[in-house]
Amino acid sequence: MAGKVKRAFFCSSCGYETPKWLGKCPSCGEWNTITEHVIAKESKSIAAQVASLPRATAQRVQDISEQENRRIDLGNKELNRVLGGGLVPGSLILLGGEPGIGKSTLSLQLALTDNNLSTLYVSGEESAEQIKMRATRIGIHNEECTVYTETLLENIASQIEEQHPDIVIIDSIQTMYTDFVESSAGSVTQIRECAATLLKIAKSSGTAIFIIGHITKDGTIAGPKILEHIVDVVLQFEGDHNNTYRILRGIKNRFGATYEIGVFEMRDNGLRSVENPSEILLSHYEEPLAGIAVGAAVDGIRPYLIEVQALVSGAAYGTPQRSTTGFDQRRLNMLLAVLEKRVGMKMFQKDVFLNFAGGFKIADTGMDLAVVAAIISSYYDRALAEGVCCAGEIGLSGEVRPAPRTEQRISEAARLGFKRIVVSSFVEKSIKRSKGIEVVFISSIEQLPRALFAE
Ligand code: TYD
Ligand code: MG
Repeated sequence: MAGKVKRAFFCSSCGYETPKWLGKCPSCGEWNTITEHVIAKESKSIAAQVASLPRATAQRVQDISEQENRRIDLGNKELNRVLGGGLVPGSLILLGGEPGIGKSTLSLQLALTDNNLSTLYVSGEESAEQIKMRATRIGIHNEECTVYTETLLENIASQIEEQHPDIVIIDSIQTMYTDFVESSAGSVTQIRECAATLLKIAKSSGTAIFIIGHITKDGTIAGPKILEHIVDVVLQFEGDHNNTYRILRGIKNRFGATYEIGVFEMRDNGLRSVENPSEILLSHYEEPLAGIAVGAAVDGIRPYLIEVQALVSGAAYGTPQRSTTGFDQRRLNMLLAVLEKRVGMKMFQKDVFLNFAGGFKIADTGMDLAVVAAIISSYYDRALAEGVCCAGEIGLSGEVRPAPRTEQRISEAARLGFKRIVVSSFVEKSIKRSKGIEVVFISSIEQLPRALFAE
């Protein structure tokens, strides 16, 4: 006899599960987001389920072999880096990002790379012909790449079992469904159930599975968020749609360090790895221009140099405009207030516009000095001395604080041929000097103009 239909209530915003209906989700605080879902058509008693489960054996820690940590070279430096030095067999990886950012392109490109791996690209979004067109555009370098257009998970599982590929890509989890659950594809229960099944397949077969999940700008779609707990690795693909640069960020990694980033450029023939981000974030002018400064930034643990451009002009209307792309507007206001108070610049009569090269978003407070340097340069309409860059945070009293990983920033600047770097005097005693670059230590913002303009 079939068991009772099992139901539960889930929050469509955060995936919170509750046995009864509630008006407000206790987890995320959203109203009217709890809906009822059928979890399973029938269920055996727990005792019967336990009896039928295969049992693992407990082992002494010193007896466990470490072969499990073998890494597969994906043939793509940036991807290897973000995964912590290559792919671990049997891992489940979530690749999240906004629609249209390039998730399908990146994963198809991975499947087509010449890396001696057999790959299965499962698509529930595009037809085989569409995928072939894209593959031709990217270039087919792997004869062991198969494409499968299917959305029923049971069929996908059989295909994986028959084919036993090294890598499977599921594009996307929102289009997949299992007959085991009654709700429609893309619902919280379907996503959870499909991901749990994929996890079992990955662990038992040793096949690494990439799951693609769409996330909207504010991260509101529930799917990928609830997956973060299930998967081994969470990668996020970010970038500005109007720009060609993309960052692949490791948010969670059970096998390595997070905070690694990979940088890519979207081209006509797919994504190109950018191994040296500074090369694209610095422009080379014939002669120095006013309003431009260079900051030695760190994203995660990766240092790079990036150009900041500022335009300071007389305010045409009563209220001055402050506009930034890629930098926190409140932080800019704070820096302008400090400049006004400490350096005596009349910022209240000025419009200020701020831009970072490549459409990059910068959350690194170590970029404060470079931002202020660009503003000072534009304000006085005077170009900075050649080969100068900065790395430091600015406090409310105008004090210059050390940026995290200052030493790494200095050595990156030296490597790229910068002549001088301005940093906080707090680290004067503790850091190792890099060869070939003059390091100027300052303790307050009043000392900055001199450090920037002195030849
Ligand atoms: P896509 O991978 O389909 O995004 P997602 O899967 O994240 O929704 O990326 C689509 C965009 O990338 C689309 O606007 C076209 C662009 N693109 C290129 O610029 N060059 C290329 O070689 C490819 C394949 C796509
Ligand atoms: Mg896609």
